[in-house]
Amino acid sequence: MAGKLTVVDIRAMKGRGEKITMLTAYDASFAALIEDAGIDMLLVGDSLGMVVLGYDSTVPVTMDEMIHHAGAVRRGASRTLIVGDMPFMSYQVSLPEAVHNAGRFMKEAGCDAVKLEGGLEVCATVSAIVKAGVPVMGHIGLTPQTAGQLGGYKVQGRDLESARNLLSMAKGLQDARAFALVLECIPAPLAELISQELAVPTIGIGAGAGCDGQVLVTHDLLGMFEKFVPSFVKSYARLAPQIKDAVLAYKREVREGRYPDESHSFKMSLPIADILP
Ligand code: KIV
Repeated sequence: MAGKLTVVDIRAMKGRGEKITMLTAYDASFAALIEDAGIDMLLVGDSLGMVVLGYDSTVPVTMDEMIHHAGAVRRGASRTLIVGDMPFMSYQVSLPEAVHNAGRFMKEAGCDAVKLEGGLEVCATVSAIVKAGVPVMGHIGLTPQTAGQLGGYKVQGRDLESARNLLSMAKGLQDARAFALVLECIPAPLAELISQELAVPTIGIGAGAGCDGQVLVTHDLLGMFEKFVPSFVKSYARLAPQIKDAVLAYKREVREGRYPDESHSFKMSLPIADILP
């Protein structure tokens, strides 16, 4: 990759009709591998809570946990545009608190932008954070932090009213100067229409091929998280069984005294008998 992409480059990609790629990362090693593959943006998603920290939802994730992992991702991927996901209740209480927390992602973790969930109710927050100098990515459709209010983890925008609502949320977030929008679990034709109506890029997850880019949770793409795999996910590898097989092989060899063998041990240049007095 040449230099680090900026939010301006991401927007220009839409203008050129170039598809934008984004994946989640939560630590330095994965971030480095994904950067080497030339993915355009890394999202330190609050999916961290489910795929790494073992929570049942994204709701318990704290700002300190996000900053800790976002810093690790930055250390692993110095050349990629990194977006830090604002966790539940880090931007809802007041505008000053939202601006302060967005700033933490840049100052303490080295992120380039933040993402936050919500429609028209968060437009003032998006605007305040952008004014303070932090680029913001919006996120509408299925918003996991408030899935309970949406009736669970369900596809959004299937009827006329909710489809029109999503379109007006998207336009509102664009007017609030979000540089891009995640569209999660929206019927493909609606996501395509929203993408055509907006000047800023849409990044789809479960929203079909008509979006300007795509994002996936890396653990899903790699087949590493077996608890729940949404139907829109394509797993490009099935690492969970491979990881378990490798761990079983290690356990067997240690138990049988076959690991470590000579080729995985250090030799000594003096006779061992000389060591005892
Ligand atoms: O937290 C996350 O990983 C996300 C993506 C699913 C868009 O918000």
